[in-house]
Amino acid sequence: MKDLKKASPSQINHIAFIMDGNGRWAKQRLMPRLMGHKKGVETLKKVTEAVFERGIRHVSVYAFSSENKERPVEEVKNLVSLVKEYLKRELKNFVKNEIRLEFMGAIDYFPKDAQEIINDSIEKTAHFSEKVLNIALNYGAQDEIVRAVNLAKSTTHDITKEEFASFLYTKNLPPPDLIVRTGGDKRLSNFMLFQAAYAELFFLNTLWPDFNENELDDILSEFGNRQRRFGKV
Ligand code: FPP
Repeated sequence: MKDLKKASPSQINHIAFIMDGNGRWAKQRLMPRLMGHKKGVETLKKVTEAVFERGIRHVSVYAFSSENKERPVEEVKNLVSLVKEYLKRELKNFVKNEIRLEFMGAIDYFPKDAQEIINDSIEKTAHFSEKVLNIALNYGAQDEIVRAVNLAKSTTHDITKEEFASFLYTKNLPPPDLIVRTGGDKRLSNFMLFQAAYAELFFLNTLWPDFNENELDDILSEFGNRQRRFGKV
């Protein structure tokens, strides 16, 4: 992906990441899966900073899918603890850097203390509008669409797709321009299925803990070279 034109950040409003490969990263090093997730949190911090530095204002990350609940109890507990630690530790940086936190998914599944931390990070950053970090927790796009249908039932007229989008968790965000999946699989795994309609998709073999700024820049360059026609000629 060399010698490609750089995408102007103004062309990109929103980038989303399916952060896959933490478990394999740890396994390759004969470490417990938790170590892969911990390294994954470090990558998350570096990558979100790099994205905002490049002038992209919205970042979404798939941190915990509704299907991840079926993982062994110990791993689910570890993931919830990592999310709590990350939010507690990073809140001062979110405030300092004026980053608004949003969440998508059924947050009421999480223990009370985790919900409190999540709500605290929403409240303390709600007044920021320039940069948004949207974290998918206990999220599934099919559930999100069904939820939106149920919310839309209260309307008495035929709704437009724009109105429908206002019933999704992402009502305050533009649709993703790019969705990047690390870890080698080429699928969306129930992530942002409505919002992804015109997103450019990038699938990398790199495992999430190894993903870095250089690869981000390669992706942004390639994005600049792709023609987005939105179904037109
Ligand atoms: C996929 O790797 C990754 C996840 C299920 C969780 C992603 C979570 C983090 C990066 C850390 C926690 C998040 C926050 C917001 C603090 P996998 O376990 O499916 O890897 P594998 O496919 O190699 O097994």
